[in-house]
Amino acid sequence: MSRAGLDKNPREVASMFDGVAKGYDRTNSVMTLGFDRRWREWSRRVLDARPGEKVLDLAAGTAVSTVEYAESGAWCVAADFSLGMLRGGAHRAVPKVAADALRLPFRDGVFDAATVSFGLRNFNDTVAALREMARVVRPGGRLVICEVSTPVFRPFRFVYMRYLLRLLPFIGRFVSSNPEAYEYLAESMRAWPDQRTLGELISEAGWEDVAWFNLTGGMVALHRATKPSASAI
Ligand SMILES: C[S@@+](CC[C@H](N)C(=O)[O-])C[C@H]1O[C@@H](n2cnc3c(N)ncnc32)[C@H](O)[C@@H]1O
Repeated sequence: MSRAGLDKNPREVASMFDGVAKGYDRTNSVMTLGFDRRWREWSRRVLDARPGEKVLDLAAGTAVSTVEYAESGAWCVAADFSLGMLRGGAHRAVPKVAADALRLPFRDGVFDAATVSFGLRNFNDTVAALREMARVVRPGGRLVICEVSTPVFRPFRFVYMRYLLRLLPFIGRFVSSNPEAYEYLAESMRAWPDQRTLGELISEAGWEDVAWFNLTGGMVALHRATKPSASAI
């Protein structure tokens, strides 16, 4: 079984996710103690998609995030470069596209919104991917990023970074089809920028009105932003 390194080589990342696809949804729920459902629900609320809108759910994996967005009545497409993950969600009735986040197979401005949940951290160039999302979203369209982040309460942050993240690879041995992937998960979570720094990266990629709020004490953060209107570009 394979795992990716912190250089996030796209081939290694795709192959690692192919390896965890079987049972991904169940493992995810166990690892997050069921909080994943609430985080997805919040992401849908913040995205606030409407019937008639087109939403790109990037790094959608098994499309578990996409079906949540589709509940809003918008047309939502799941895009991911791991065919194993997309196949793992074959039973989910949303359109699925094999696509690399850094070279999206869509024309400029075709989506009303783009979103990534627990995927941005895996791209090997965060700002380039955020720019590519801005390209395919129309002026005035929205971005929502749901990603692990930095707990805000200092004593808990210490315990979380120092001890809880170290437990992940251990738990992975019992619940995952690719335990090594959970070493990568813990490393990538520890190395990921905090809320403010991610907000700055989103602005750097050309999005405006960047804001975020914390879920579960900041273990997860939701960032939202808007693509500048045509007159502002
Ligand atoms: C942790 S899963 C998240 C899946 C889903 N969004 C969720 O909320 O459960 C991360 C996904 O990012 C995808 N991914 C990573 N890098 C990618 C890239 N460059 N292009 C497209 N998908 C990518 C992986 O294949 C994987 O399915």
